[in-house]
Amino acid sequence: MLENRQFLDSAKKDAVWGRGITPPQVSIDKCIGCGQCVKDCPALVLELRDKKMQVVYGEGCIACGHCWAVCPEGAVVQQEVETDTSLKPGPGPAVTADALQLLIRERRSVRLFKDKPVSKDQLIRIIDAGRYAPTGSNRQDVNYVVVSNHQKVAELRSLVEGFMENSFKLMQNSAIAFFYGMKFGRSIVYSLRHYAMWYDFLKNKKDKHAYGPLPYGSAVIIAHGQSFDSVAPFNCSVALYNCSLMAHSLGLGACFLGFVQAGANMDKKIKHWLGIPKEHQSYGAMVVGHPDVKYHRLIERREPEIKWI
Ligand SMILES: Cc1cc2nc3c(=O)[nH]c(=O)nc-3n(C[C@H](O)[C@H](O)[C@H](O)COP(=O)(O)O)c2cc1C
Repeated sequence: MLENRQFLDSAKKDAVWGRGITPPQVSIDKCIGCGQCVKDCPALVLELRDKKMQVVYGEGCIACGHCWAVCPEGAVVQQEVETDTSLKPGPGPAVTADALQLLIRERRSVRLFKDKPVSKDQLIRIIDAGRYAPTGSNRQDVNYVVVSNHQKVAELRSLVEGFMENSFKLMQNSAIAFFYGMKFGRSIVYSLRHYAMWYDFLKNKKDKHAYGPLPYGSAVIIAHGQSFDSVAPFNCSVALYNCSLMAHSLGLGACFLGFVQAGANMDKKIKHWLGIPKEHQSYGAMVVGHPDVKYHRLIERREPEIKWI
């Protein structure tokens, strides 16, 4: 058992991540004491006392809204999570497993785009799909930069191309490559070395719209979060993957962009241009546009390595 009062108090403060979370409240008259909210609360905020729900550890609340959503009587109030849409979960999942499997397999990395802008409404819809993705401790800490106009996307492309050419040169110096590996991870050093030759070939190609670090789409979405936060990379990836599925569902195409992400982290000029705070890192980037390509067949993937325990 933890005995240190000071430690407990500071842990309680940390638990709300400085987000000013208001714990749920219960309407005593409506509560029938079924205990569903108590059982489902992941943060052990609630207890059943005298057959009524009571908040016993409000500081631990992560505002996930499970208590509000699970209560059959509508007795729980938690303003932060209440939604005013008429959308309600159906008796079963909204899509069948077969439909979802098909959607997942239909989504491809689209690199050929029409010269047609993606509307702001569509971009907001796409980001909304990221917004409803899960985050560790419900921190909801995924931040987005949207580059949504043609000229700005072109500016970003030329910045990233500059970053790549410069990095390719630097990677030829093994001391610098070692330093980069220590600072940014060995895999990006391998990628930069690997792509150096390919990039040289690409530069002389006439039509390079589909290739390069940033295909010629209409918008770029970059997800960023706190550096050195062990869950931020996962939170951003999950959110951005949701975004890619929504883009596909809207009849748009998307492709993740490893080099834009790397440039946003490794090149101060790009990070500054994007307005990503110093203490943040980019954990994913994606180009979006109207596809100028249609896939007639689904592809197969390798069998996954699974260890069953
Ligand atoms: C983290 C990540 C980074 C990626 N970076 C790029 C990129 O910089 N350029 C690109 O053309 N494709 C990029 N891709 C797309 C992959 O090449 C693609 O997902 C893979 O080849 C499978 O094809 P599919 O997405 O069409 O099924 C990236 C994918 C991921 C997940």
